[in-house]
Amino acid sequence: MTTVYQILSEERFDKESIVTLLKSEGNDKELLFVKAAEVKHEYIGNMVHLRGLIELTNQCSKNCFYCGIGASNKKLQRFMISLPEVEEAIQFSYNNNYGSIVIQTGEIQSESFTQAIEDILFSITKIGNGKLGVTLSCGEQSIRTYRRWKAAGAHRYLLRIESSNKELYYKLHPNNKKHNYDIRLEALKNLQKCGYQTGTGVMIGLPFQTIENLADDLLFMRDLNIDMCGMGPYIEHVDTELYKYKDLVPTKEARVDLSLKMIAILRIMMKDINIAATTAMQTLVDGGREMALVAGANILMPNTTPGLYREQYALYNDKPGINEEAEDSKQSIEKLIYRAGCVIAYGEMGNSRHFLL
Ligand code: 5AD
Repeated sequence: MTTVYQILSEERFDKESIVTLLKSEGNDKELLFVKAAEVKHEYIGNMVHLRGLIELTNQCSKNCFYCGIGASNKKLQRFMISLPEVEEAIQFSYNNNYGSIVIQTGEIQSESFTQAIEDILFSITKIGNGKLGVTLSCGEQSIRTYRRWKAAGAHRYLLRIESSNKELYYKLHPNNKKHNYDIRLEALKNLQKCGYQTGTGVMIGLPFQTIENLADDLLFMRDLNIDMCGMGPYIEHVDTELYKYKDLVPTKEARVDLSLKMIAILRIMMKDINIAATTAMQTLVDGGREMALVAGANILMPNTTPGLYREQYALYNDKPGINEEAEDSKQSIEKLIYRAGCVIAYGEMGNSRHFLL
């Protein structure tokens, strides 16, 4: 059998190598993280770029089995933050020298929604004098809408495939037109065609998910030649379909361990892409995002959503930061970045080098 040491010197990992790395323990696991740190140091450095996150609306027309804000969850109060409030959050990011904004929403396809996002994009350009980077995370849309938002100032788009395995995908989503794997994949390709820095990602530690599935997820990202990745552990939500399979979910420790390995392996495979240290990591373990930065991530998204709305944007249970206002989040973020031995690249957009080069 090929050893982890040998695998790490390979130019290009195959599935078997990735599986071995995902299963590595002890000294082998340490070798993996050392290699990922080397690659990160060489290609990215220790700079972390910030994106001020605005969770614009929890309105959603979908019913993904894992997600707490799905349309059929009647317990939630649905909100959409008003334009003046969004502008305040944008101003906060600009004043604090975060180089970029992320607008995240449920999945809604309508002209009024398209228009609302367009208006926000115009505001971002105006408030930031064109110096703020913008990532959208607003789900599947028509290529026309993607073009419109690009023209209005968006630079990047994150659309997670959630799982690249079709069979598993349909265990996580209803099998219907609204939740179609091929349409999602097409949307990702359309984003690339429209000239976005394109990101995707998966959930890690899902019921029914195998190590082989996760290896395929990484190969999927390489094959698609993505520019950015946001991935993190799956976290149960009591008001979702998938909750009934909670006994099939790996332990918190196992999910954290797997997530960190996924980040480290992806960093080695796709050396110059942007990888986010996600909030879900933090939910499972205190210091989870620092761990992600050390493992290979280089992007962090402080929540700048007005505190009032946060409770209604619970994608999963125990989401951190729900009782915080933007200022608290900024301070906690600064601390955690320094603890991870990284430096905040204030005032920079932090575009994906993979896209630029
Ligand atoms: N656990 C972890 N991540 C989740 N997301 C949604 N629900 C969950 C959950 N229960 C992630 C999905 C989605 C993103 C907005 O949040 O990957 O794309």
